[in-house]
Amino acid sequence: MAQFRTLDELGDVHSKVALVRVDLNLPMADGRATDLTRARAVAPTILELADAGAKVLLLAHFGRPKGERHSTMSTSYLQGAVEEVLGRKLMYISEVSGPVVEQALTIFRPGDIGLLENTRFWPGEEKNDPEFARAIAAHGDFYVNDAFSASHRAHASTEGLAHLLPAYAGRAMQAELEALDKALGNPEKPVAAVVGGAKVSTKLAVLEHLVARVDHLIIGGGMANTFLAARGVAVGKSLCEHELTAKVEEIMEAADRAACTVHLPYDVVIATEFAPNPPSLRTCNVHEVASEEMILDVGPQATEALADVLKTCRTLIWNGPLGAFETPPFDVATVALARTAAALTREGSLVSVAGGGDTVAALNHAGVAQEFSYVSTAGGAFLEWMEGRELPGVAALLRS
Ligand code: 3PG
Repeated sequence: MAQFRTLDELGDVHSKVALVRVDLNLPMADGRATDLTRARAVAPTILELADAGAKVLLLAHFGRPKGERHSTMSTSYLQGAVEEVLGRKLMYISEVSGPVVEQALTIFRPGDIGLLENTRFWPGEEKNDPEFARAIAAHGDFYVNDAFSASHRAHASTEGLAHLLPAYAGRAMQAELEALDKALGNPEKPVAAVVGGAKVSTKLAVLEHLVARVDHLIIGGGMANTFLAARGVAVGKSLCEHELTAKVEEIMEAADRAACTVHLPYDVVIATEFAPNPPSLRTCNVHEVASEEMILDVGPQATEALADVLKTCRTLIWNGPLGAFETPPFDVATVALARTAAALTREGSLVSVAGGGDTVAALNHAGVAQEFSYVSTAGGAFLEWMEGRELPGVAALLRS
């Protein structure tokens, strides 16, 4: 794996100012954070630096204010949530550079933690403007990126700063890069990938990248319908991107050439309407879907066969649910396969890495998120990484 510097190489940081990029883009309702997972993820880095006597300045974006101040997207809304997770008081600082930050630092003691305003309030952030980055860098002695989930953006706080100060990967970034390397960079074979979700169109690049790298590609969700349609299966009124069947055929041919087995469901759970426990619910062979029916989950026989596939594998990478898991009973296949993966991980026979918003929700729903080897909370960044793309924030750490 390419090398990046970690906090282990920092040396004495007492009284030094650490500029730490974190992802605190927390889901909110009525001005309160509803899920603290991302704050928890970056807590070890922040506490490690503060406990070593650094003066810690947190850089974060919140929402998409597009270069203007929006009172509803101030990081001051996040202060309480981060204080709760850290068990420490933070100083909220209403700027990211200039005299206000300078002034704040004059009263900072070693171990103090400050939360700077939303970096995206300034147009220079998304433009990765070197002058904007230099103005921020002027306050720091070193830079730590602990925001893998924002590192697919080449922004001043995720990329630019890494070129201006000695740059290090934080603990969350380090864990993420190590886990992802184990899953796809340098995995133990055989490797299985589960790729689910509604639409093939959003994951074409992922599929194209994976077929050449994994031994088993398990397709689920609405995406499987497009694959089935490309194989000539009538999918009724299932969600299906018929216009992509030619593209899907190309992917299947590429899989054949790479000796990657593509797994599609051969039995399915269907209904005439998409609603919880609909009266029309039934399970059938994929070739028996009537024109007014839609496929909403992988059937029990196919799920069992997929579990058998996982039992032969050493590495699993999972993105996207197998069925419409938020509506019962279309969560059954996702829950069953996730539990199999968790059990195999517990036994030590499988390294299981999962990521993406829906995936985390699905694994939490199955009650197994904690049992996977690694679960990434990154959304777009995880997908881009699954596409084999270089993430600018990560690349800048590797080179710096
Ligand atoms: C996320 O929520 O996935 C990250 O914080 C990145 O946010 P963005 O998509 O607005 O860049």
